[in-house]
Amino acid sequence: MLNVSLFQLERFLPLPYKNALEPRLKHAHKKLQTGSGAGGEFTGWVHLPQAYDREEFARIQAAAQTISRSSQALVVIGIGGSYLGARGVIECLCSPNYNLKKKPTPNIYFVGNGLSADALQEVLDLVADVDFSVNVISKSGTTTEPAVAFRFFRRALEEKYGKEGARQRIYATTDRQKGALKSLAGSEGWQTFVVPDDVGGRYSVLTAVGLLPIAVAGVDIQAMMDGAREMMERCGEASYDCPAWEYAALRYQLYRSGRSVELLACYDPAFRFMAEWWKQLFGESEGKEGKGLFPASVEFTADLHSMGQYIQEGRRLMFETVVRLGPSACSLLVPGEEDDGDGLNFLTSTSLDAIRDRAMEGTLLAHTEGDVPNLIIDAGEKSPRSLGALIYFFEYACGLSGYLLDVNPFDQPGVEAYKKNMFALLGKPGYEDRKAELERKLGR
Ligand code: PA5
Repeated sequence: MLNVSLFQLERFLPLPYKNALEPRLKHAHKKLQTGSGAGGEFTGWVHLPQAYDREEFARIQAAAQTISRSSQALVVIGIGGSYLGARGVIECLCSPNYNLKKKPTPNIYFVGNGLSADALQEVLDLVADVDFSVNVISKSGTTTEPAVAFRFFRRALEEKYGKEGARQRIYATTDRQKGALKSLAGSEGWQTFVVPDDVGGRYSVLTAVGLLPIAVAGVDIQAMMDGAREMMERCGEASYDCPAWEYAALRYQLYRSGRSVELLACYDPAFRFMAEWWKQLFGESEGKEGKGLFPASVEFTADLHSMGQYIQEGRRLMFETVVRLGPSACSLLVPGEEDDGDGLNFLTSTSLDAIRDRAMEGTLLAHTEGDVPNLIIDAGEKSPRSLGALIYFFEYACGLSGYLLDVNPFDQPGVEAYKKNMFALLGKPGYEDRKAELERKLGR
């Protein structure tokens, strides 16, 4: 069962805080449960693991099977909340090397999450000689990066299969009613899945946004939803028995005590994109009005040989949140060598998990000694059920954290600034005045 703790709690948070924070957490909890806080119209994810649309869920599973039967590759087009969750879960549960493995399920390529011509062309080349399908995901239906990428892949599908054949291979996940993608899907007859009105992008991994690509990778999405529902029930408790309360309270107190960076660490490289998902979740939800912890991530033990130096001795800005997963699915024991040329025979027959655990303990002690508080999340085995629970846990803790900071955890007004500038500089109609002003600033 997922558990949260702060190592050497009394050292870093010497004053009692639980009772003082409890009324504020209760208030935040009520806002999430009833949708009565800022951005309350986007709290549909709170009850989603119980209330999700079963008919659509069955369609997602059926579509995943169709894609698996008809395609050697699925191209997933989306950015931000329409991208990171699916990639995080697939890499975590199926491996970052998923596409290189022998498997009965299609390769999965993620595009539309940037504007690199080389990255896009590479995937166009990779699918040129194989059967493929496309899942284009955009809640708004108007985001530039995925919309541009979709133009290329839609054309590639139509050239390969004709318009009718392409129609059978395009799956659009978007708003129920509005947006350019919804209109296109309607007029072209593509199968569609819904991003519910009351679920914002970064809270949408447990909707069709994440579930369709995840199911195509062969992950048991029912088990994920079950795990999320179990955590939802735990988080329904308005008390510190809810692990999201514990996490939100600890990180808030550390923030108030002067820490400005939260470093999410994991000892499993497969967790890398889950950390990317987490960064978006917390960064976009909290980082506004001049407030919020800066979410960063490291991959241990690799980054102990790079970022480890800064963490140990650099500016004292941060605390670490270490996600512990395990035990590993396979057991690897260090082989013995007769001549012991590398001096490693003291590890003969020791499991890699045991070595990792000692590294984890050694790091915990060293970083704590270096004045970096270590918050530990024991997340249990790497399974669809545990990951579903972990996702919900982070989402709930994020909602609570936003309300503790007194910001709206469900909007992202700051994301618009670059978009407006980009549109103006690209000459989008309606942005003429801004274009002139920006070009002047750029010295053109
Ligand atoms: O959390 C969010 O709302 C954003 O990160 C969006 O997910 C991201 O901008 C993509 O938006 P859309 O799904 O509308 O293309």
